[in-house]
Amino acid sequence: MFDNIMRVRNYRYFWWCMGSIVVAVGVFATQTSSNEPANGGTWQGLVLGVWAALLIVWLTLLGVRKRSYRFRLGTVQDWTSLHVYLGVGVLVVATLHAGLQFGWNVHTLAYVLMFAVIISGVVGLFTYLSYPRRIADNQQGQNRSQLFGELYELNQQGIKTARSCGPEVQTAAISGIQRTAIGGGVLSQLFARDLSRFETLDGVQQPNPHQAPLIDLVSKRIPRADKHDEVTALQDLLVILCRRQAVIERLRKDIRLQGWLQAWLYVHVPLTAATLTAVVVHILVTFIYW
Ligand code: HEM
Ligand code: HEM
Repeated sequence: MFDNIMRVRNYRYFWWCMGSIVVAVGVFATQTSSNEPANGGTWQGLVLGVWAALLIVWLTLLGVRKRSYRFRLGTVQDWTSLHVYLGVGVLVVATLHAGLQFGWNVHTLAYVLMFAVIISGVVGLFTYLSYPRRIADNQQGQNRSQLFGELYELNQQGIKTARSCGPEVQTAAISGIQRTAIGGGVLSQLFARDLSRFETLDGVQQPNPHQAPLIDLVSKRIPRADKHDEVTALQDLLVILCRRQAVIERLRKDIRLQGWLQAWLYVHVPLTAATLTAVVVHILVTFIYW
C-alpha cells in the first residue's frame, strides 16, 4: 500500500495541497496593504487560523477512517496520500496565520507541537516507504515463525552435538544456546540490543554478543583437540553455531525493522492529541484575552 502513497491517482493530492497553499498565500498577501502588520488577529489571519485548525481536525480523522469499513468517501489510500501532503501543507497555513510572530506563549506551544507531529509523520512516512522492502530482503522468503522454527531445529542439533565435545565446550555451547536473548523490552527490540550470555566451566557468565565469543571459543578449541571424534564433533558444532548466528541476526533485524515500523505512531498519535489540546486552549485564550 505505501509503495505508491505519494503517487496515488497520479499525484492528485500533491496538486490539491499546492492549491491550498497558493490560496493561503493569496489570502496572506492581501494583508500587506493594510496598516496592521500580518498576525493571527486580522480577518485574513483568522481565516487562515480556522483553515489550519480544520486541517488539523481532518488530519486527525485518519485514525477513524483507517478503522471504518462502512465509510465510502475515498479509500484509505486516498486519505493517507492526502494526509501526507496536507500534513506538510498545514505548516505553511499555520505559519501564515501567525504572521511569523512567535513568542513564549501557549499559541507558539500549539505551533511547536504541530511541528513535532509533522516531523514524526515524515519519519513515519520514510519507514513506511523503505522498511517493507528491507524487511522482505532480510526475511529472504521466510517469515518470522519459520525463522524461529529453523532456530529451534539448530538449537536441538547444537545441544546434541555439544554433548559429544569436551566439558569446556559442552558447558559453553549448551548454556550459550539456552541463554540466547532475542527481542526483549522495547529498547532492546528497537536497537537490537544483544544480552546473550554463555557460561564457562567454572560457572562465570560471559557476554555473548552476536554469538561471536562462543563461536570463537569453539573454533580455538579445534586445533587443541587430540581425538579424531572430538575434532569432527567440534567442526560440526562450529557449522551449527555459525548457521544459528545467521538466523539469529536475521530474526533480530526483523524485530528491529518491524518495531520501527510501528514505533513512530506511538509518538505521532500522542503528539496529535497534545496539539489538538493546545490549539483548543490557544483559541479559548485568544478569545478571552484578545
Ligand atoms: C479557529 C482557529 C484559530 C483561531 C480563531 C486563532 C486565533 C488567533 C488569534 C486571534 C491570534 C492573534 C493573537 C494576538 O495577536 O495576541 C492568533 C495568533 C497565533 N496563532 Fe492562532 N488561531 C487559530 C488556529 C491556530 C492554529 C491551528 C495554530 C497552530 C497550530 C495557531 C497558532 C498561532 C500562533 C503561533 C499565533 C501567534 C502568537 C504570537 O503572536 O505570539 N493558531 N491566533
Ligand atoms: C498536524 C499534522 C498531522 C496530524 C494531526 C496527524 C495525525 C495523524 C493521525 C491521528 C493518524 C492516525 C494514526 C492511527 O490511528 O493509527 C495519522 C496517521 C498517519 N500519518 Fe499523520 N498527522 C499529521 C501529519 C503527518 C505528516 C506531515 C505525515 C507525513 C509526511 C504523516 C504521515 C502519516 C501516515 C503515513 C499515517 C498512516 C499510519 C498508518 O496507516 O499506519 N502525518 N496521522
